[in-house]
Amino acid sequence: MTFKEEIKRRRTFGIVSHPDAGKTTLTEKLLLFGGAIHVAGAVKSNKIKKSATSDFMEIEKQRGISVATSVMGFEYKGYKVNILDTPGHQDFAEDTYRTLTAVDSVIIVIDAAKGVEAQTRKLMEVCRMRNTPVIVFVNKMDRPSRDPFDLLDEIEKELNIEVRPLSWPIGNGPDFRGVYNLYEQNLYLFSPNKQVVEEGISLEVSDPNLEKEIGESMAINLREELELINGVYPSFEEAGYLAGKQAPVFFGSALNNFGVRELLHCFLEIAPSPLPSTAEERQVNPEEEKFSGFVFKIHANMDPNHRNRIAFVKICSGRFARNTNYKHVRLGKQMKFSSPTAFMAEKKSIVDEAYPGDIIGIPDSGNFKIGDSLSETEDLHFKGLPSFSPELFRYIENADPMKSKQLAKGIDQLMDEGVAQLFVSQFNGRKIIGTVGALQFEVIQYRLLHEYGASCRYDPINLYKACWLEAEDEAQLADFKRRKHQYMAHDKSGRDVFLADSAYMLQMAKESFKGIKFHFTSEF
Ligand code: G4P
Repeated sequence: MTFKEEIKRRRTFGIVSHPDAGKTTLTEKLLLFGGAIHVAGAVKSNKIKKSATSDFMEIEKQRGISVATSVMGFEYKGYKVNILDTPGHQDFAEDTYRTLTAVDSVIIVIDAAKGVEAQTRKLMEVCRMRNTPVIVFVNKMDRPSRDPFDLLDEIEKELNIEVRPLSWPIGNGPDFRGVYNLYEQNLYLFSPNKQVVEEGISLEVSDPNLEKEIGESMAINLREELELINGVYPSFEEAGYLAGKQAPVFFGSALNNFGVRELLHCFLEIAPSPLPSTAEERQVNPEEEKFSGFVFKIHANMDPNHRNRIAFVKICSGRFARNTNYKHVRLGKQMKFSSPTAFMAEKKSIVDEAYPGDIIGIPDSGNFKIGDSLSETEDLHFKGLPSFSPELFRYIENADPMKSKQLAKGIDQLMDEGVAQLFVSQFNGRKIIGTVGALQFEVIQYRLLHEYGASCRYDPINLYKACWLEAEDEAQLADFKRRKHQYMAHDKSGRDVFLADSAYMLQMAKESFKGIKFHFTSEF
């Protein structure tokens, strides 16, 4: 196979959802259809059990399992599919956002009874930042569900994207019989089966056997609804989908294997192969000969006996080869990797080569930070790995004056891993930790003590959001910084950040300083 063909056959994507909508189940069913596993339940999921929410050590243990399932690759019908798993636990939302920077497309799972939920909205906003193509899978149709037309309206409105159903549910709840495939114009009836995939019968909507298979009233209903869909919704436009403007919608029940085949087949056909990546210097095309890639995730093993880390590298261009010298751009030094791992289904193995769209895991003893680039020759700095404003903030203080060096080093390294964000107040020089969930504060305290021998304590600080500033009027920005000195901080790369203590304060600032734009992300 040629280098170009290797790239064209790759599909690297993420599955995201509000917790409990069925992301884990769908991931597993895709692997099942893809033949990567043979029985459902074989994949240890990245999902953190609900019962463990207050016990972070338990969560970390479960996260340890997740290294193997962070990327699930499999071969299907000539395609190489790479599914990037994202943590379901909301406290790790930042991890999810970063993972989304390494995918070429996304499948959003929505619960058919609940519709669009809070986390779905947030994830969509992240997709929109890079115009990532999105497919929606409406799951759990085997339960009493909302009307599919209503759901489509809600998705369109709440996620602010044009929708086009490409499969259509036949009944719902106990009467759910399967889905009509609008993309292939046929019907597959499956018998519900949680474990394995059985081929169903294939019918066209005009087939007189339809009545026999699904009953007269359902057949009439289906024909009417299909007519309505074609009248009401725009036709599927591949260009619109690829531009992130139109979302194809599929219905089904992941648990029962309904609608998953329809989703997978259409996905393989329409989802993009690896797309160009944007570096500060220029656009980098996957077909370029020279290897380049970036680190989007670092996974630290908290087991004290195996304190290694794995840096996950997304390959942007060229062919990656084992034991070959590449430049670590930030450190300006050549490095070669003797045991890069690739991920196939639930297994992880050492690879000799990898292609754009692939993710490799590199064992790391502290050389990598999130956002670091590796490159064969050129100095490239990949963009698209923004920091997002944290939701919770606390001052972090040294609780053991003898260990201040260890504390500083520990904080530094944990921030490089992306556990949380550090801000330094310009007013009093105090360090402020910002996180998405309360759990990270505990994780940081524990890891500082056990890995660096440093003790910290937290002091409360009442903050609402961190805002990165963009000045349209430089003089006004200087004036703003002077007047709000008390609320100004530096982020990890030394950029100015305004720490607003309330939504009201931010609103007032926006009104008084119209020449400044306030962003909740570090890239805009
Ligand atoms: P998540 O990763 O998005 O958080 O969701 P996950 O797949 O774990 O699914 C959440 C719950 O919803 C699970 O039940 C799962 O079995 C169920 N589920 C997923 N898809 C469907 C579906 O199509 N129909 C129905 N009826 N249920 C579905 P649980 O009881 O929380 O966990 P488990 O004990 O079954 O694993």
